Amino acid sequence: MTASNLCFRAAMLLLLAGMLWGIQMAIAQDHSAFPAHAHLNLLGFVALFLFGIFYRLTPAAEAHSWAIRQVWIWIIGTVVLAIGVALVHTGHTIGDPIAAVGSLVVVADATLFTWLVFKV
Ligand code: HEM
Repeated sequence: MTASNLCFRAAMLLLLAGMLWGIQMAIAQDHSAFPAHAHLNLLGFVALFLFGIFYRLTPAAEAHSWAIRQVWIWIIGTVVLAIGVALVHTGHTIGDPIAAVGSLVVVADATLFTWLVFKV
């Protein structure tokens, strides 16, 4: 699978998960986890889909050995971050270190993506 295909497929799955989460919050009339929903949608759908467009438009980046790894790290970091933020906002302090790890993973991976953008 190419990096762009992985981006598009994962982005759509995360969008569906994020939207279902939004509907669940609305039905439950409990919006306390909305920052996690927002991060899942924005990092997991918007940013990931944009990464996919970049990779699709830039064959040299798509072919780079770090491209697929960059996408997987983003997917994992985003899911970990969303879980951590959801726990924090629903009163579970265990979410703090989980959100911290997730945020460090995504910022490191954003740095990796920046390096790829400058390299090709
Ligand atoms: C079926 C689709 C969706 C539903 C039902 C839904 C539902 C919700 C709900 C109930 C809230 C909490 C609002 C509040 O308490 O202030 C919220 C917040 C938010 N959602 Fe969604 N959402 C959906 C899709 C999306 C998508 C696709 C994105 C981004 C690409 C998104 C981004 C956000 C953001 C950024 C916030 C925070 C807004 C704020 O700061 O007040 N949502 N959403």
